[in-house]
Amino acid sequence: MRQTDKKTCGQNVESLLKENEMLRQEVRVARQAGEITADLVAKQFEETDRILSLFQAANAQRKAVLDAATQVSIIAADPAGKITLFNSGAVNMLGYKPDEAVGHLSPLDLHLPGEIEDRCREYSLLGGGTIGGIELFAKYASEENPVEREWTYVKKDGSELPVSLSVTPIKGPRGELAGMLFVAMDLTRRKKAEQDILAAMKTASKYASIGKLTAGISHEIGNPLASISSLVQEIQEVKSPEFAQEALNIVNHHIERIVRIVRSLGDFTRLYSPEKIPSRLGEILESTLNLTRFDKRFKNIEIVKNIDFNGQMRINPDQMQQVFLNLTLNALDAMPDGGRLSIDVKDAWDSIVIIFGDTGCGMDREVADRIFDPFFTTKSPGKGTGLGMSICWGIISEHGGTISVESEKGIGSTFTVRLPKKG
Ligand SMILES: Nc1ncnc2c1ncn2[C@@H]1O[C@H](COP(=O)(O)OP(=O)(O)O)[C@@H](O)[C@H]1O
Ligand SMILES: [Mg+2]
Repeated sequence: MRQTDKKTCGQNVESLLKENEMLRQEVRVARQAGEITADLVAKQFEETDRILSLFQAANAQRKAVLDAATQVSIIAADPAGKITLFNSGAVNMLGYKPDEAVGHLSPLDLHLPGEIEDRCREYSLLGGGTIGGIELFAKYASEENPVEREWTYVKKDGSELPVSLSVTPIKGPRGELAGMLFVAMDLTRRKKAEQDILAAMKTASKYASIGKLTAGISHEIGNPLASISSLVQEIQEVKSPEFAQEALNIVNHHIERIVRIVRSLGDFTRLYSPEKIPSRLGEILESTLNLTRFDKRFKNIEIVKNIDFNGQMRINPDQMQQVFLNLTLNALDAMPDGGRLSIDVKDAWDSIVIIFGDTGCGMDREVADRIFDPFFTTKSPGKGTGLGMSICWGIISEHGGTISVESEKGIGSTFTVRLPKKG
C-alpha cells in the first residue's frame, strides 16, 4: 500500500466513524422526538376525547333542559329567519313536529301577519325607521333590555294562542347577531282567569247594588205604606169629612211616591239584559232634549252642545236616553234660577267621552260621594227618589263604561261618562 493510500484509508474510516456517531445521535434525537410526538398525540387524543365527551354531555344537558320545558316554547332562528331549533314546548304549543319546523319555517309563519305589520308600524312611529318582517325580531333581539310582550301565535291548525314572548340575541364569536331565541309562555289560562275574575267582580257588584236596592226599597216603600195604613184606619174610625179629605190627600201623595219608585225600579231591573244596537249618541241626545223642551224649568237655561263624534256605537238607545234624561233633569233641578247646561261628546281614541256641565248649586264632597247610592237624595220627599244617578251608574257599567262627577258647591257640577267604542 502506498503512503498516500494508507492516509486516505485512515481518513475514510475516521469520517465513517464520525458519520456513524452523528447518525447514532440523530437516531437518538429522532427516537426521542418520536417518543415525545407519540406521547403528544396520545395526550391530544385524550384531550379531544375529554372535550368531546364534555361537549356531548353539555349538548345532552342543553337538549334535556330545552325539552323539559314542555310548557315553554323555545325556538331559535338564524338572522335570515330560518328556524334552527324547536323544543318540545313549541311542539306542544304550536302543533308542528320539530322536523316540520326546523329548516322549513320562519318565526314569521307562527304569528298573525296583521300583528307583525302593526308592530312594524309602531316601531317606525317610535322613530326606529321603516322595517318589515324578520327585521322586526332582529331589532327586538338587539335591544339592551329585552321586553316581554303579548303576541298572538298561530298554531298549525290555524287557531290562535295568546302568548307572552321575549326575543333575545344569540351572539357569534365576534359579538355579531348569529341568531335569535324566541321564548314564549301560553297566556290562555291567565286570560281565562282574568276574565273569570272580571265576571265575578261584575256579578258581585250587581248583587251588592241589588242588596242595597232591596234594603232601600223596604225603607222607601215601607214608610209610606205604614202611613197609608194608619191613615185609612183613622178614616174608618173618624167620620169628619174634612179630616177624611185631608187624610186622602196625604194617602194620594204617598201613593204617587210609591208609583214613582216602583216605575224607577222597573228601569233598574231591566238594566241587566239590555239589547245593544248600533246607534248615534247625537241623535239620542237630540231626542232627549226634545222630550224636556216643554218643561218650564228650561225657560232660563242656555244649552251649549258640542258634538265632535257622530259615529255609530253599539249601545241600548232607550237606556242611554234615560241616562241623558236623568243628567239633564238633575242639572235643571240644580239651576232653579237659570244657568247654562253644556253637553260635549268627544272622540277619545278607544272611547267616547260625554260631559254634562252645569252652572247650578253644585254639591260638597260628602254629597258627591253618595249620589250613586240608590235612594240617596237631597231633594224634598215629593221631588226626588234618589234613584236617577244609581240607574245611570248601572246603565253605564252595563255598557262597560264609567261615570264620575266633579263638583264645587255654589259653582256647578260636571258629569263625565266614558263609553268604550267596542261595546
Ligand atoms: N247636577 C247636579 N247638581 C247638583 N247636585 C246634583 C246634581 N245631580 C245630582 N245631584 C245630587 O245627587 C242626588 C241624587 O241624584 P239622583 O240619583 O238623580 O236622585 P234625585 O234627583 O231623585 O235626588 C241629588 O239629590 C242631588 O243632591
Ligand atoms: Mg235625579
